[in-house]
Amino acid sequence: MIGILEPGITHLKGDEMSRVNSIKNAWLLVEEGEIVDYGSMDTCPKFNIETKDLKGQWVLPAFVDSHTHMVFAGPRHNEYVMRLKGKTYAEIAAEGGGIINSAKLLQSMDEDTLYELSMKHAYDAIASGTGALEIKSGYGLSVDAELKMLRVIKRMKADLPIVVKATFLGAHAFPPEFKNDHEGYISQIIDEMLPVISEEGLADFIDVFCDEGFYNPEETDRILKAAISHGLKPKIHGNELGITGGVQVAVANQSLSVDHLEHIGDAEIACLKDSNTMPVALPGSSFFLKIPYTPARKIIDNGLPIAVASDFNPGSSPCNNLWFIWSLACLYNGMTPEEGFNALTINAAKAMDLEKTHGSISKGKKACLVFAGPFEHINEIPYWFTKNHSNKVLMSK
Ligand code: NIG
Ligand code: FE
Repeated sequence: MIGILEPGITHLKGDEMSRVNSIKNAWLLVEEGEIVDYGSMDTCPKFNIETKDLKGQWVLPAFVDSHTHMVFAGPRHNEYVMRLKGKTYAEIAAEGGGIINSAKLLQSMDEDTLYELSMKHAYDAIASGTGALEIKSGYGLSVDAELKMLRVIKRMKADLPIVVKATFLGAHAFPPEFKNDHEGYISQIIDEMLPVISEEGLADFIDVFCDEGFYNPEETDRILKAAISHGLKPKIHGNELGITGGVQVAVANQSLSVDHLEHIGDAEIACLKDSNTMPVALPGSSFFLKIPYTPARKIIDNGLPIAVASDFNPGSSPCNNLWFIWSLACLYNGMTPEEGFNALTINAAKAMDLEKTHGSISKGKKACLVFAGPFEHINEIPYWFTKNHSNKVLMSK
């Protein structure tokens, strides 16, 4: 059994990230979806309840996927081929493809079909060991379509066997009709979308794509402040395409996390050090877009924490298998297997405000567990890249 933490631990940073507590030959007591107690077999009490012998399998806390765009209307394999032939992600976006392409498709899809498609992706993720999910809007880009996406996420929250958090990402791109009228779309977000979202309880978090060719830090700041006044906590997309001020605006607004960070300098690292904002690496999008990887090694060596997530979406990371994301984090972000594990569990839980209930085997936490292996060593898990190691998952919400 691995990933055991005292209940009060909220995240691990710097050197702490290389620690993974384990018990060999362990027992674990679960009642009504909660971890009640655990220990080594030589301390195991006699139970008058149903027990199960896991026969050498490992028990891990389920992964927490703190950054996904799981609700979308279809794949973008045509753009994938355009990129194989030499076009860049930014060029495709500037020509009206990319996020705009997904928005066109989603605007014309009915809510029930969108819900069915998204639930399939969610069950795939759960089967590969994901025990909590953040899902963003942002492929609507109109009042009606953004609300449609958020209502789909609300239904998913109610129907899935795991905790789901909803993020409003209306500021994912500018719709083509507002290309030269940023203010027009920003006022739709602030004056028309946010009040309904707040009234209907459609989102927990606010996100903005603060990057070159998308939202600048000043626009981001205004949207964040308006959303905060409606009770939403920020989580930012920043520094994917350049060093663009995303980290500073995220930290200034006490964001839960700032995600991507493929481009990060010393000023950004210093800014994160003075904050409670979790840096999040998304190696799936670096892999798929062939862009630089977030320098996780440098971030950890500076004493910071880091989380890792899938960024599951049809444009830059069509992968929601966190076992593979763990392998990428080790191979290309420079993390050790232990650091990758902590980044995908306890630190990811902190990045989505779930550190009290998820991300570790701790008394009182949700029994979101994965039975996998057996393995010779934790190193072996990310070594078998692309394998879904989950023999069985036990989820709770
Ligand atoms: O996190 N970078 C912004 N948003 C998504 C990609 C969205 C898309 O291409 O559809 C991301 O990579
Ligand atoms: Fe993303």
